[in-house]
Amino acid sequence: LQTLPPVQLAQKYFSLFPSEKDPLWQDPCEDKRHKDIWSKEKTCDRFPKLLIIGPQKTGTTALYLFLGMHPDLTSNYPSKETFEEIQFFNGHNYHRGIDWYMEYFPLPSNTSSDYYFEKSANYFDSEVAAQRAAALLPKAKIITILINPADRAYSWYQVGDQHSESVLSISVPRCTSKTTGALSLHMGNTLTFILFVPPAQLLVLDGQMLKTEPASVMDKVQKFLSLTNIINYHKILAFDPKKGFWCQLLEGGKTKCLGKSKGRRYPDMNTESQAFLREYYRDHNIELSKLLYRMGQPLPSWLREELVHTR
Ligand code: A3P
Repeated sequence: LQTLPPVQLAQKYFSLFPSEKDPLWQDPCEDKRHKDIWSKEKTCDRFPKLLIIGPQKTGTTALYLFLGMHPDLTSNYPSKETFEEIQFFNGHNYHRGIDWYMEYFPLPSNTSSDYYFEKSANYFDSEVAAQRAAALLPKAKIITILINPADRAYSWYQVGDQHSESVLSISVPRCTSKTTGALSLHMGNTLTFILFVPPAQLLVLDGQMLKTEPASVMDKVQKFLSLTNIINYHKILAFDPKKGFWCQLLEGGKTKCLGKSKGRRYPDMNTESQAFLREYYRDHNIELSKLLYRMGQPLPSWLREELVHTR
């Protein structure tokens, strides 16, 4: 029997089966053949059981902070390039393999039932993340946050405004041009995750409520995660009037809030832009409401309001 050295063998293999060049990592513990050839040192307990998939600008960093305050939940280690986000399932990091991904989580201790989570806000609008996440983490719970797309557009607009050299007045075309693409994806990719994740594993949060009543939202999240140790977030979060947002309450009554780039202060959107965006997102919002209804998910309060205006 003749064989080639590994690299040449791989080249030969992929020339015969080019479609297999793009890997789809699966949970090694789901398939005995994979588990048998995997190192004995490794464990599938080093994978997250919860993913916060985004989208960006909806409060994902706040949720990440609040979850990290729970004693039974452990977030990933930060990345040098992308800070608190690993961004594994959406981009080139995926090709670094599952060992690379696992290194972002602590080695599980034998005694505790570690519950790891990660948030990468651009999983939401990735075309590949849903399928990849479902293949590797078929039992993981998924949280997505939805806010009014008009507010999301305005939040993006504010980022552009801070970074652009010329000071532009808030005009409707500028407000929308930056976000049209993102928002049409916004719809399509909600569906993608729905296709791959069983409904009971998916929680849709109202981003407006996360902003105004985070402790109640955290009650809901803890229930969804089936945690036995329920923490009262009403006692560990406090509204910081200076920041204008809810923050972590520290000993001595001080608060620890998110950084300057999260929860920025800017003027309310002008009525002309509001009206334009309401009309612009009208059909999207109607579709979203139908989708949530089919999924058995409650409609966020902002969506109910928008639907009232479309009548
Ligand atoms: P703005 O900065 O436009 O106000 P993300 O972390 O997903 O990018 O979301 C950022 C948004 O989270 C902020 O948008 C802010 O509105 C919202 N947010 C919700 N709760 C927050 C909190 N407790 N602290 C800071 N920002 C919060």
